[in-house]
Amino acid sequence: MEMMTKQHLVQQNGFLDIEVDPSLDLSSEIIKLKKEKKAVILAHYYQESEIQDIADFVGDSLQLSQAAAKTEADMIAFAGVHFMAETAKILSPQKKVLIPDLKAGCSLSDSCPAPLFAKFKEKYPDHIVVSYVNCSAELKTLTDICCTSSNAVHVINSIPKDRGIIFAPDKNLGAYLEKTTGRNMVLWNGACMVHEIFSRERIVKLMHRHPEAKVIAHPECEEAVLQLADYIGSTSGLLNYTIKSEAKEFIVVTEAGILHQMQKANPGKDFIPAPPNNHCSCNECPHMKRNTLEKLYLCLKYEIPEINLSEKVITDARTCINRMLEISDKAGLKI
Ligand code: 13P
Ligand code: SF4
Repeated sequence: MEMMTKQHLVQQNGFLDIEVDPSLDLSSEIIKLKKEKKAVILAHYYQESEIQDIADFVGDSLQLSQAAAKTEADMIAFAGVHFMAETAKILSPQKKVLIPDLKAGCSLSDSCPAPLFAKFKEKYPDHIVVSYVNCSAELKTLTDICCTSSNAVHVINSIPKDRGIIFAPDKNLGAYLEKTTGRNMVLWNGACMVHEIFSRERIVKLMHRHPEAKVIAHPECEEAVLQLADYIGSTSGLLNYTIKSEAKEFIVVTEAGILHQMQKANPGKDFIPAPPNNHCSCNECPHMKRNTLEKLYLCLKYEIPEINLSEKVITDARTCINRMLEISDKAGLKI
């Protein structure tokens, strides 16, 4: 297929919408392609379990950024969402960074368009801007320090107490950080479409049915839901908690993809996905779930869709990510 046609397909659909031989063993084909092309596959915990199982590295946002910064591979296939693949490109500009579906976006990132944020920021000229990594590369160019849910507390605590802080784009993580660090911050009014729809009422009912279960929640959830939690943390924090805890049952208040690693790491323990405020029994991110094994195979085979960023965006966005990585290294937050 001509490159133009392939580019056109990607522009239209976000991925190479071409037929794959149904008799192919996709997992072994992907492993073959990966070796041939000296590629590394990074997958977020919210990916389909079959993608997690084939990845070289599965992790949370911080771990994936660290892995992207360190890898020696020529190519990175990023099974995650767009801002994550952009972060990998910013950290490894000389590498080809592929994403199985270019339209795997993020509602939280989309809730904070860079031009609007630039205007907002003008109102607080003396404030330090801390942005959650779930934002566009362009927003990162307007940011002083980036953070993930694993290192956000360390990042906020590293800022002198007399400096004002703007925190973007997640108001829920922002409110949680205000409570944990005792700092008042100017919060951008954004939220994650997955974490903001957990139903407190349905979780309380589950807690009655499973009185021994520990409730573990991601800080992107609303305050009313976080109040129910025995433990609050990033995806890797939640996973580690289930490993260390003596409890046998857990109500997991984050995207359901993480249950795969929890079950693998804890045979004999039970994991109950917390329900959203609709008729579904678990909560999945439609953006994360756009990636499939087929799309991963096609992107490695044809090396498209690729993440491309201008040199200026890469240089300007890199500073805030490097500051975050330095703070994480100092705090010993390593993969
Ligand atoms: P972490 O894996 O860093 O906790 O992030 C969760 C998330 O929502 C990623 O999109
Ligand atoms: Fe974005 Fe929420 Fe999906 Fe994470 S779970 S990618 S924050 S929409």
